[in-house]
Amino acid sequence: MSAFFMGGTVLKVTVNTLKEMKSNGEKITMLTAYDYQFARILDAAGADTLLVGDSLGNVMLGYANTLPVTMDEMIHHTKAVARAAKRAFVIFDMPFMSYQVCVEDAVFNAGRAVKETGAECVKLEGGGPLAAEVTAAIVECGIPVCAHLGLTPQSVNAMGGFVVQGKALAKAKEILDHALMLQAAGACMVVLEAVPWKLAQILTEKLDIPTIGIGAGPHCDGQVLVVHDMFNMSGRVPPKFAKVFEDVEKIMTRGAKNYVKEVKAGTFPETSHSFAIDDAVIAKLKPASRKKAARK
Ligand code: KIV
Repeated sequence: MSAFFMGGTVLKVTVNTLKEMKSNGEKITMLTAYDYQFARILDAAGADTLLVGDSLGNVMLGYANTLPVTMDEMIHHTKAVARAAKRAFVIFDMPFMSYQVCVEDAVFNAGRAVKETGAECVKLEGGGPLAAEVTAAIVECGIPVCAHLGLTPQSVNAMGGFVVQGKALAKAKEILDHALMLQAAGACMVVLEAVPWKLAQILTEKLDIPTIGIGAGPHCDGQVLVVHDMFNMSGRVPPKFAKVFEDVEKIMTRGAKNYVKEVKAGTFPETSHSFAIDDAVIAKLKPASRKKAARK
């Protein structure tokens, strides 16, 4: 694992660490996180980067897709993640229409993302001349940019669904061109989502910046998973490219069912879960018994 401690303090992963990891052939690990406790656990487990993905929309907020997610929602959740990340590099996923309208809007929103949350990088979906111009303008302000090519969920309607991208020559070439263009514009890494693994391998070899794959095969410089998929707690069958590392939904369901059962049966809480009080105080609270009252 890349440098972790120095003199007892945890070293933050930076853009330089990620660059070094690529040149040393050390795989980069990225996981999504949306709140303080998950981020705390993933950071301590050694995830190099935490992505506050706009998958927040479907995973955490119950939207049908990522399109309704707002800057304010992203900021609220990223603040919590950034507070927990002692080592991991925190990436803020720019939501739909926060960077597509014009360069000024994109720079303004990227500035908010970093100033208001403590994130160290922003991620933008898509390629082409406007994406390159926006990337260059944000980088010029001193904000690292992570690109995202292949299946870009904010364009789900234009793509006609969540489908693998770059199988045909023209699209494969376009992804390659866009990746090189974004690298030239100053992007510090690129997420490749749902592209054939041989295409991802070529991209990884051609680019100087790290490639982070999700459904892009084993040859990328790093991997990212949506944490609720890897813990089987997304309420859906995990996509083909996601591996369930632990079935947390099963564990939580068992715990919740046991809680309901014990409360209904009166076996929880026990006195060990409760607080004591001095008997003298209780005696003063209790009404005089009926016998005593009758003698008077
Ligand atoms: O929003 C997200 O979680 C993402 C990852 C799937 C890369 O963009």
